[in-house]
Amino acid sequence: MGQGQAEKMAMVLAVLLLSVLSCGKAEEKTKLVNGIVNGTVDLEPGNSILERYQQIKWFYNHTQQILKKQKGKSAHYNNKYFQNKTKLFENGTLRITRLRKEDSSEYKIIVEDAKGQEIPIMIQLNIYDPVPKPRVNVTSLKKTKGGCSVTLKCSVSIPDVTYTWYKDDKKCNDSKLNGDLVLSLTSESNIMYNCTVCNSASCNTESIYYRGDCQWQDRNTASSTLRLAADSAVTLGILLLLHNLL
Ligand SMILES: *[C@@H]1O[C@H](CO)[C@@H](O)[C@H](O)[C@H]1NC(C)=O
Ligand SMILES: *[C@@H]1O[C@H](CO)[C@@H](O)[C@H](O)[C@H]1NC(C)=O
Ligand SMILES: *[C@@H]1O[C@H](CO)[C@@H](O)[C@H](O)[C@H]1NC(C)=O
Ligand SMILES: *[C@@H]1O[C@H](CO)[C@@H](O)[C@H](O)[C@H]1NC(C)=O
Ligand SMILES: *[C@@H]1O[C@H](CO)[C@@H](O)[C@H](O)[C@H]1NC(C)=O
Ligand SMILES: *[C@@H]1O[C@H](CO)[C@@H](O)[C@H](O)[C@H]1NC(C)=O
Ligand SMILES: *[C@@H]1O[C@H](CO)[C@@H](O)[C@H](O)[C@H]1NC(C)=O
Repeated sequence: MGQGQAEKMAMVLAVLLLSVLSCGKAEEKTKLVNGIVNGTVDLEPGNSILERYQQIKWFYNHTQQILKKQKGKSAHYNNKYFQNKTKLFENGTLRITRLRKEDSSEYKIIVEDAKGQEIPIMIQLNIYDPVPKPRVNVTSLKKTKGGCSVTLKCSVSIPDVTYTWYKDDKKCNDSKLNGDLVLSLTSESNIMYNCTVCNSASCNTESIYYRGDCQWQDRNTASSTLRLAADSAVTLGILLLLHNLL
């Protein structure tokens, strides 16, 4: 490697390092944490306070104090509700368990360092319902010449979700609206379609199988129906395929 190249590389590395550092800093100030109902989250103030704090105070809803703790001493709780469902680690991390929607709030930790300087760090916690198993329905089924036109409808019972369809694990690019996937199949067969539904905190997936000739099977009927028809080599192939998938 020539000297010019080495200089260029050093410069690229320095720029990368700088951007990593500045991103890290920005994140510490406006951290966003997502959790699911009945789940657990860790609110981490970040490693910058690990060694340096004299006292820390945790708040929720801006002004309501949860606890305060001096270095080396045990935590003193000001709040029965949070005392019962949180754990404070020595590094300042607050673990909240048995999460409820009402725990969504802007949390704040105030770190008092050795010089008596107070450093506030904000963490916005949002609690979402876990995404339940989606339902997939086959609608507008029409046999076409050697193929099939169909709309697969995917739905879940909670709002504020995004839908993604996969065809054999490849993201689908076919026309779709919300959970609907409109398909025009020709001679394909033995395809697995997945509908993956996500919110900001969790995802869930349901699969449906296309056997060809406008025949669709959901996850539950796929194995039983195939066992009945397992005498043909083709279906045996599918059976093996499904066996591996399920
Ligand atoms: C959370 O837990 C409670 C009690 O165990 C249960 O009744 C409820 O269905 C759970 N909710 C979710 C979304 O898992
Ligand atoms: C703080 O301590 C907890 C529990 O030991 C650990 O899970 C977490 O990773 C620590 N956080 C940092 C920033 O070191
Ligand atoms: C925090 O404030 C919000 C809205 O002001 C409220 O809905 C929520 O119940 C409060 N949290 C607690 C734990 O009191
Ligand atoms: C603490 O949590 C447990 C389990 O959720 C609950 O049964 C109990 O009533 C709670 N105690 C207080 C003081 O909130
Ligand atoms: C799917 O079918 C079930 C039962 O036939 C029905 O209850 C449900 O509403 C349908 N869902 C959609 C998205 O069409
Ligand atoms: C599709 O679903 C199957 C099982 O239902 C799973 O094994 C596979 O990983 C899923 N693929 C994607 C891309 O989610
Ligand atoms: C999806 O379709 C668009 C144009 O319709 C194309 O530019 C893009 O490459 C396609 N993506 C995949 C993964 O096929």
